Amino acid sequence: MKKIFPKIAPSILAANPLNLERDVKEAEKNGAYRISVDVMDGHFVPDITFGPSVVSNLKKIIDIDIEIHLMVDNPELQSKFFIDAGADVITFHFESTKDNEDLIRYIKQRQIRVGIAIKPETQVDDIKKYLSEIDEITVMTVVPGKGGQSLIKTCLDKVKELIKIREDHGLKFLIQIDGGVKKENICSVFEIGADIAVVGTAIFNESNNIQYNMKSLFNLFEITEL
Ligand code: DX5
Repeated sequence: MKKIFPKIAPSILAANPLNLERDVKEAEKNGAYRISVDVMDGHFVPDITFGPSVVSNLKKIIDIDIEIHLMVDNPELQSKFFIDAGADVITFHFESTKDNEDLIRYIKQRQIRVGIAIKPETQVDDIKKYLSEIDEITVMTVVPGKGGQSLIKTCLDKVKELIKIREDHGLKFLIQIDGGVKKENICSVFEIGADIAVVGTAIFNESNNIQYNMKSLFNLFEITEL
């Protein structure tokens, strides 16, 4: 097995909002690469989740980065609000905006890292032309909108395609996998070549033992000293 130190981004979608400060600090203490915040507006996806004030308050209590995963109909407007609130990375859905170029430009102008997320049905060809301009691509391995779903294996084929494009064109974007990542599949997710994995219910669940849950994931890897 390749010796790597996996970049795991706990998703607070699965956390109990009443214990958010405690749980996010625990995740940071136990090796979280960054925190992933799933923002849902009830239109692009049925659920409604977090607003900018959650992010501005999270920024006060943790040092690691906060990535905002916008699952909203108006990512142009929401990008501004969440950048103002302190977001370090904005990931918007290719399927949610009329002008990807314009939004990428705006986010970069704000000196914030920018990522595009693609739904399971969206192909790499659909977003290929943006890859030279973005910092990250998020391959959704579930239908966006809720946690606790099973990983759709066929979506992982996009990782190989993306790696080839990155190598062939000397690009630098990171590849993030989001959805259904658990103990049973996290090793293969990183072996296939993902750089970051978003993990929700495998970390934040009714066991409430975040330290144990994160250690169980990291222990699956031979950790290379950073
Ligand atoms: C779906 C969300 C989830 C979440 C990860 O819209 O983006 O993928 O963050 O949740 P789990 O790890 O429970 O699938």
